[in-house]
Amino acid sequence: MNIFLTGGTGYIGSAVLEALVRAGHQVTALVRNPERASRVAARGARPVIADLGQPTSYRQAAIGHDAYIHTAKDHSSRAETVDRATIDTLLPIATAGPGAVVIYTSGVWVLGNTHGPVAEDAPLDPAAISAWRPSHEKIVLGASSNGVRVAVVRPGIVYGSAQGIVGDMFRDAANGLMRVVGSGENHWPLIYDRDLADLYVRILSRRDAAGVFHATDDGDERVNDLVEAIGTHTSFRPEVRHMPIAEARGKLGPYADALALDQIVRSPRARALGWAPTLHSVGRNVARLFEEWRTGREAA
Ligand SMILES: NC(=O)c1ccc[n+]([C@@H]2O[C@H](COP(=O)([O-])OP(=O)(O)OC[C@H]3O[C@@H](n4cnc5c(N)ncnc54)[C@H](OP(=O)(O)O)[C@@H]3O)[C@@H](O)[C@H]2O)c1
Repeated sequence: MNIFLTGGTGYIGSAVLEALVRAGHQVTALVRNPERASRVAARGARPVIADLGQPTSYRQAAIGHDAYIHTAKDHSSRAETVDRATIDTLLPIATAGPGAVVIYTSGVWVLGNTHGPVAEDAPLDPAAISAWRPSHEKIVLGASSNGVRVAVVRPGIVYGSAQGIVGDMFRDAANGLMRVVGSGENHWPLIYDRDLADLYVRILSRRDAAGVFHATDDGDERVNDLVEAIGTHTSFRPEVRHMPIAEARGKLGPYADALALDQIVRSPRARALGWAPTLHSVGRNVARLFEEWRTGREAA
Protein backbone atom coordinates (compact mmCIF):
# COMPACT_ATOMS: atom_id res chain seq x y z
CA MET A 1 0.00 0.00 0.00
CA ASN A 2 0.93 3.65 -0.44
CA ILE A 3 0.90 5.15 3.02
CA PHE A 4 1.02 8.73 4.28
CA LEU A 5 2.58 8.75 7.76
CA THR A 6 2.86 11.59 10.26
CA GLY A 7 5.31 11.46 13.18
CA GLY A 8 7.71 9.07 11.43
CA THR A 9 10.62 10.51 13.43
CA GLY A 10 8.82 10.06 16.77
CA TYR A 11 8.90 7.18 19.23
CA ILE A 12 5.79 5.37 17.98
CA GLY A 13 6.00 6.64 14.41
CA SER A 14 9.58 5.45 13.87
CA ALA A 15 8.62 1.94 15.02
CA VAL A 16 5.57 2.08 12.73
CA LEU A 17 7.70 3.31 9.82
CA GLU A 18 10.12 0.44 10.28
CA ALA A 19 7.29 -2.12 10.44
CA LEU A 20 5.58 -0.66 7.35
CA VAL A 21 8.76 -0.74 5.27
CA ARG A 22 9.50 -4.28 6.49
CA ALA A 23 6.00 -5.32 5.40
CA GLY A 24 6.68 -3.98 1.89
CA HIS A 25 4.58 -0.81 2.00
CA GLN A 26 5.58 2.47 0.33
CA VAL A 27 5.68 5.23 2.90
CA THR A 28 5.47 8.99 2.45
CA ALA A 29 6.67 10.42 5.77
CA LEU A 30 5.79 14.00 6.76
CA VAL A 31 8.75 15.52 8.61
CA ARG A 32 9.56 19.00 9.83
CA ASN A 33 13.02 19.69 8.43
CA PRO A 34 15.74 18.46 6.02
CA GLU A 35 17.72 16.69 8.76
CA ARG A 36 14.61 14.65 9.68
CA ALA A 37 13.96 14.13 5.95
CA SER A 38 17.31 12.42 5.43
CA ARG A 39 16.70 10.34 8.55
CA VAL A 40 13.41 8.89 7.25
CA ALA A 41 14.80 8.54 3.72
CA ALA A 42 17.63 6.40 5.12
CA ARG A 43 14.96 4.19 6.64
CA GLY A 44 13.16 3.67 3.34
CA ALA A 45 10.49 6.40 3.31
CA ARG A 46 9.85 9.26 0.89
CA PRO A 47 10.04 12.44 2.96
CA VAL A 48 7.73 15.44 2.66
CA ILE A 49 8.84 18.50 4.60
CA ALA A 50 5.90 20.29 6.20
CA ASP A 51 4.35 21.41 9.47
CA LEU A 52 1.10 19.78 10.54
CA GLY A 53 -0.11 23.10 11.93
CA GLN A 54 0.06 24.55 8.39
CA PRO A 55 -2.23 22.43 6.19
CA THR A 56 -1.23 24.21 3.00
CA SER A 57 2.29 22.86 3.50
CA TYR A 58 1.15 19.22 3.06
CA ARG A 59 -2.42 19.05 1.71
CA GLN A 60 -1.33 18.49 -1.88
CA ALA A 61 1.36 15.96 -0.95
CA ALA A 62 -1.14 13.91 1.03
CA ILE A 63 -3.54 13.34 -1.87
CA GLY A 64 -3.69 9.91 -3.47
CA HIS A 65 -2.56 7.52 -0.72
CA ASP A 66 -4.20 4.22 0.21
CA ALA A 67 -3.78 4.82 3.94
CA TYR A 68 -3.22 7.69 6.36
CA ILE A 69 -1.49 6.94 9.66
CA HIS A 70 -1.29 9.77 12.18
CA THR A 71 1.20 9.25 15.01
CA ALA A 72 2.57 12.80 15.32
CA LYS A 73 1.98 14.95 18.35
CA ASP A 74 3.01 18.54 18.72
CA HIS A 75 4.18 18.91 22.31
CA SER A 76 3.76 22.69 22.41
CA SER A 77 0.70 24.51 23.73
CA ARG A 78 -0.68 24.09 20.17
CA ALA A 79 -1.08 20.29 20.62
CA GLU A 80 -4.87 20.26 20.34
CA THR A 81 -5.00 22.83 17.52
CA VAL A 82 -2.34 21.06 15.47
CA ASP A 83 -4.00 17.67 15.96
CA ARG A 84 -7.35 19.13 14.90
CA ALA A 85 -5.78 20.80 11.86
CA THR A 86 -4.23 17.47 10.91
CA ILE A 87 -7.43 15.47 11.06
CA ASP A 88 -9.42 18.27 9.41
CA THR A 89 -6.91 18.19 6.54
CA LEU A 90 -6.36 14.46 6.15
CA LEU A 91 -9.92 13.15 6.65
CA PRO A 92 -11.42 14.97 3.63
CA ILE A 93 -8.54 13.73 1.49
CA ALA A 94 -8.95 10.15 2.73
CA THR A 95 -12.72 10.20 2.23
CA ALA A 96 -12.48 11.73 -1.27
CA GLY A 97 -10.93 8.57 -2.72
CA PRO A 98 -12.35 5.05 -2.60
CA GLY A 99 -11.49 2.62 0.17
CA ALA A 100 -8.73 4.44 2.05
CA VAL A 101 -7.69 3.45 5.57
CA VAL A 102 -7.19 5.96 8.37
CA ILE A 103 -5.39 5.07 11.60
CA TYR A 104 -5.40 7.68 14.35
CA THR A 105 -3.20 7.38 17.43
CA SER A 106 -4.85 8.20 20.74
CA GLY A 107 -3.86 6.70 24.11
CA VAL A 108 -5.13 4.86 27.17
CA TRP A 109 -5.15 8.05 29.26
CA VAL A 110 -8.58 8.84 27.75
CA LEU A 111 -9.92 6.06 30.00
CA GLY A 112 -8.93 7.62 33.33
CA ASN A 113 -8.70 5.37 36.41
CA THR A 114 -10.19 2.08 35.32
CA HIS A 115 -11.25 0.47 38.64
CA GLY A 116 -10.37 -3.01 37.36
CA PRO A 117 -9.74 -4.38 33.85
CA VAL A 118 -11.45 -2.59 30.96
CA ALA A 119 -11.70 -3.20 27.22
CA GLU A 120 -12.23 -0.96 24.18
CA ASP A 121 -15.91 -0.43 25.03
CA ALA A 122 -15.16 1.21 28.41
CA PRO A 123 -16.64 4.65 29.07
CA LEU A 124 -14.16 7.51 28.74
CA ASP A 125 -12.99 9.62 31.66
CA PRO A 126 -9.91 11.36 30.27
CA ALA A 127 -7.07 12.65 32.39
CA ALA A 128 -6.90 16.46 32.08
CA ILE A 129 -3.88 16.20 29.79
CA SER A 130 -5.99 14.13 27.34
CA ALA A 131 -9.20 16.13 27.72
CA TRP A 132 -9.42 16.99 24.00
CA ARG A 133 -8.66 13.50 22.74
CA PRO A 134 -12.13 11.92 22.93
CA SER A 135 -13.62 14.58 20.65
CA HIS A 136 -10.85 14.00 18.10
CA GLU A 137 -11.38 10.23 18.33
CA LYS A 138 -15.07 10.85 17.67
CA ILE A 139 -14.41 13.03 14.61
CA VAL A 140 -12.07 10.40 13.16
CA LEU A 141 -14.42 7.49 13.87
CA GLY A 142 -17.28 9.52 12.35
CA ALA A 143 -15.48 9.57 9.00
CA SER A 144 -15.88 5.81 8.58
CA SER A 145 -18.64 6.08 5.98
CA ASN A 146 -18.09 6.27 2.20
CA GLY A 147 -16.04 3.05 2.10
CA VAL A 148 -13.31 4.59 4.25
CA ARG A 149 -12.06 2.32 7.01
CA VAL A 150 -11.11 4.09 10.22
CA ALA A 151 -9.26 2.82 13.27
CA VAL A 152 -8.28 4.53 16.50
CA VAL A 153 -5.33 2.92 18.30
CA ARG A 154 -4.97 3.54 22.03
CA PRO A 155 -1.48 2.41 23.01
CA GLY A 156 -0.51 1.75 26.59
CA ILE A 157 2.66 3.46 27.82
CA VAL A 158 5.28 2.41 25.29
CA TYR A 159 8.56 0.71 26.21
CA GLY A 160 11.53 -0.42 24.11
CA SER A 161 14.54 1.42 22.62
CA ALA A 162 15.71 4.59 24.43
CA GLN A 163 12.67 6.85 24.36
CA GLY A 164 9.48 7.47 26.26
CA ILE A 165 8.48 7.27 29.89
CA VAL A 166 10.06 3.87 30.50
CA GLY A 167 13.22 4.95 28.64
CA ASP A 168 13.37 7.91 31.04
CA MET A 169 13.10 5.46 33.96
CA PHE A 170 16.13 3.56 32.65
CA ARG A 171 17.99 6.88 32.34
CA ASP A 172 17.04 7.97 35.86
CA ALA A 173 18.03 4.59 37.29
CA ALA A 174 21.42 4.85 35.58
CA ASN A 175 21.78 8.37 37.03
CA GLY A 176 21.01 7.11 40.54
CA LEU A 177 17.60 8.70 41.29
CA MET A 178 14.16 7.45 40.26
CA ARG A 179 11.15 9.66 41.01
CA VAL A 180 7.67 8.19 41.33
CA VAL A 181 4.51 10.27 41.28
CA GLY A 182 2.28 9.25 44.20
CA SER A 183 2.49 5.91 46.00
CA GLY A 184 3.56 3.90 42.94
CA GLU A 185 0.94 1.26 43.83
CA ASN A 186 -0.95 2.24 40.64
CA HIS A 187 -0.90 -0.01 37.57
CA TRP A 188 0.33 1.18 34.17
CA PRO A 189 -0.85 -0.49 30.96
CA LEU A 190 2.27 -0.97 28.84
CA ILE A 191 3.22 -2.07 25.33
CA TYR A 192 6.50 -2.89 23.59
CA ASP A 193 7.16 -0.47 20.70
CA ARG A 194 7.61 -3.19 18.07
CA ASP A 195 4.49 -5.04 19.14
CA LEU A 196 2.55 -1.80 18.89
CA ALA A 197 3.92 -1.16 15.41
CA ASP A 198 2.83 -4.64 14.35
CA LEU A 199 -0.72 -3.78 15.32
CA TYR A 200 -0.77 -0.86 12.85
CA VAL A 201 0.45 -3.17 10.07
CA ARG A 202 -2.16 -5.76 11.00
CA ILE A 203 -4.97 -3.19 10.98
CA LEU A 204 -3.90 -2.15 7.49
CA SER A 205 -3.97 -5.69 6.20
CA ARG A 206 -7.29 -6.74 7.76
CA ARG A 207 -10.22 -5.40 5.77
CA ASP A 208 -12.53 -5.96 8.75
CA ALA A 209 -10.39 -3.93 11.17
CA ALA A 210 -12.24 -0.76 12.13
CA GLY A 211 -13.08 1.10 15.33
CA VAL A 212 -11.11 1.39 18.56
CA PHE A 213 -8.19 -0.90 19.35
CA HIS A 214 -6.28 -0.92 22.62
CA ALA A 215 -2.65 -2.01 22.48
CA THR A 216 -1.47 -3.37 25.83
CA ASP A 217 0.67 -6.29 26.94
CA ASP A 218 -1.58 -7.41 29.85
CA GLY A 219 1.39 -7.31 32.23
CA ASP A 220 -0.65 -5.46 34.90
CA GLU A 221 2.53 -3.97 36.33
CA ARG A 222 2.49 -1.48 39.18
CA VAL A 223 4.85 1.48 38.93
CA ASN A 224 6.70 0.18 42.02
CA ASP A 225 7.20 -3.17 40.21
CA LEU A 226 8.80 -1.32 37.29
CA VAL A 227 11.02 0.71 39.59
CA GLU A 228 12.11 -2.42 41.46
CA ALA A 229 12.80 -4.38 38.26
CA ILE A 230 14.70 -1.55 36.56
CA GLY A 231 16.59 -0.62 39.75
CA THR A 232 18.07 -4.10 40.13
CA HIS A 233 19.70 -3.90 36.68
CA THR A 234 21.88 -0.83 37.19
CA SER A 235 25.43 -1.16 38.48
CA PHE A 236 24.38 0.43 41.78
CA ARG A 237 20.88 0.55 43.22
CA PRO A 238 19.26 3.93 42.55
CA GLU A 239 17.59 5.99 45.23
CA VAL A 240 13.79 5.96 44.82
CA ARG A 241 11.80 9.05 45.75
CA HIS A 242 7.99 8.99 45.90
CA MET A 243 6.66 12.49 45.20
CA PRO A 244 3.31 13.47 46.72
CA ILE A 245 0.87 14.20 43.90
CA ALA A 246 0.50 17.88 44.85
CA GLU A 247 4.27 18.40 44.65
CA ALA A 248 4.40 16.48 41.35
CA ARG A 249 1.61 18.65 39.93
CA GLY A 250 3.65 21.73 40.81
CA LYS A 251 6.61 20.37 38.87
CA LEU A 252 4.91 18.51 35.99
CA GLY A 253 1.45 20.06 35.71
CA PRO A 254 -1.39 17.78 34.51
CA TYR A 255 1.17 15.22 33.32
CA ALA A 256 1.55 14.26 37.01
CA ASP A 257 -2.09 13.17 37.23
CA ALA A 258 -1.72 11.04 34.11
CA LEU A 259 1.31 9.30 35.61
CA ALA A 260 -0.67 8.64 38.80
CA LEU A 261 -3.56 6.92 36.98
CA ASP A 262 -4.36 3.37 38.07
CA GLN A 263 -5.24 1.50 34.88
CA ILE A 264 -5.67 -2.11 33.87
CA VAL A 265 -6.42 -2.13 30.16
CA ARG A 266 -7.16 -5.16 27.98
CA SER A 267 -7.06 -5.26 24.17
CA PRO A 268 -9.62 -7.89 23.11
CA ARG A 269 -10.46 -6.19 19.78
CA ALA A 270 -6.80 -6.06 18.78
CA ARG A 271 -6.29 -9.66 19.86
CA ALA A 272 -9.33 -10.72 17.83
CA LEU A 273 -7.36 -9.59 14.76
CA GLY A 274 -4.76 -12.23 15.63
CA TRP A 275 -2.41 -9.61 17.14
CA ALA A 276 -0.38 -11.04 20.00
CA PRO A 277 2.34 -9.02 21.74
CA THR A 278 5.69 -10.81 21.91
CA LEU A 279 6.66 -9.15 25.22
CA HIS A 280 4.32 -9.34 28.18
CA SER A 281 5.96 -7.08 30.71
CA VAL A 282 8.85 -4.75 31.38
CA GLY A 283 9.79 -6.59 34.57
CA ARG A 284 10.48 -9.96 32.96
CA ASN A 285 12.47 -8.37 30.12
CA VAL A 286 14.56 -5.80 31.94
CA ALA A 287 17.97 -7.13 30.87
CA ARG A 288 16.99 -6.99 27.21
CA LEU A 289 15.26 -3.62 27.53
CA PHE A 290 18.22 -2.13 29.40
CA GLU A 291 20.46 -3.23 26.53
CA GLU A 292 18.03 -1.70 23.99
CA TRP A 293 18.02 1.52 26.01
CA ARG A 294 21.84 1.63 26.13
CA THR A 295 22.18 0.95 22.39
CA GLY A 296 19.44 3.44 21.49
CA ARG A 297 20.99 6.15 23.65
CA GLU A 298 24.40 5.65 22.05
CA ALA A 299 22.89 5.83 18.56
CA ALA A 300 20.94 9.06 19.31
N1 LIG B 1 4.86 7.25 23.86
C1 LIG B 1 3.88 6.70 24.57
O1 LIG B 1 4.11 6.01 25.58
C2 LIG B 1 2.45 6.92 24.14
C3 LIG B 1 1.45 6.14 24.73
C4 LIG B 1 0.13 6.31 24.33
C5 LIG B 1 -0.19 7.24 23.36
N2 LIG B 1 0.79 7.99 22.81
C6 LIG B 1 0.40 8.95 21.77
O2 LIG B 1 1.02 8.57 20.56
C7 LIG B 1 1.35 9.71 19.79
C8 LIG B 1 2.83 9.67 19.45
O3 LIG B 1 3.57 9.68 20.64
P1 LIG B 1 5.17 9.57 20.61
O4 LIG B 1 5.57 9.14 21.98
O5 LIG B 1 5.60 8.78 19.44
O6 LIG B 1 5.56 11.10 20.41
P2 LIG B 1 6.99 11.71 19.99
O7 LIG B 1 8.07 10.70 20.14
O8 LIG B 1 7.12 12.99 20.73
O9 LIG B 1 6.85 12.01 18.44
C9 LIG B 1 6.10 13.08 17.99
C10 LIG B 1 6.24 13.15 16.48
O10 LIG B 1 5.40 14.20 16.02
C11 LIG B 1 6.16 15.05 15.16
N3 LIG B 1 5.62 16.41 15.23
C12 LIG B 1 5.38 17.14 16.34
N4 LIG B 1 4.86 18.33 16.01
C13 LIG B 1 4.76 18.35 14.65
C14 LIG B 1 4.30 19.31 13.71
N5 LIG B 1 3.84 20.51 14.11
N6 LIG B 1 4.36 19.00 12.39
C15 LIG B 1 4.86 17.80 11.99
N7 LIG B 1 5.30 16.84 12.84
C16 LIG B 1 5.25 17.12 14.15
C17 LIG B 1 7.57 14.97 15.75
O11 LIG B 1 8.49 15.46 14.78
P3 LIG B 1 9.98 15.95 15.19
O12 LIG B 1 10.87 14.73 15.08
O13 LIG B 1 10.30 16.99 14.19
O14 LIG B 1 9.89 16.48 16.59
C18 LIG B 1 7.67 13.49 16.00
O15 LIG B 1 7.91 12.78 14.81
C19 LIG B 1 0.94 10.92 20.64
O16 LIG B 1 -0.32 11.35 20.24
C20 LIG B 1 0.90 10.36 22.04
O17 LIG B 1 0.01 11.08 22.87
C21 LIG B 1 2.11 7.85 23.17
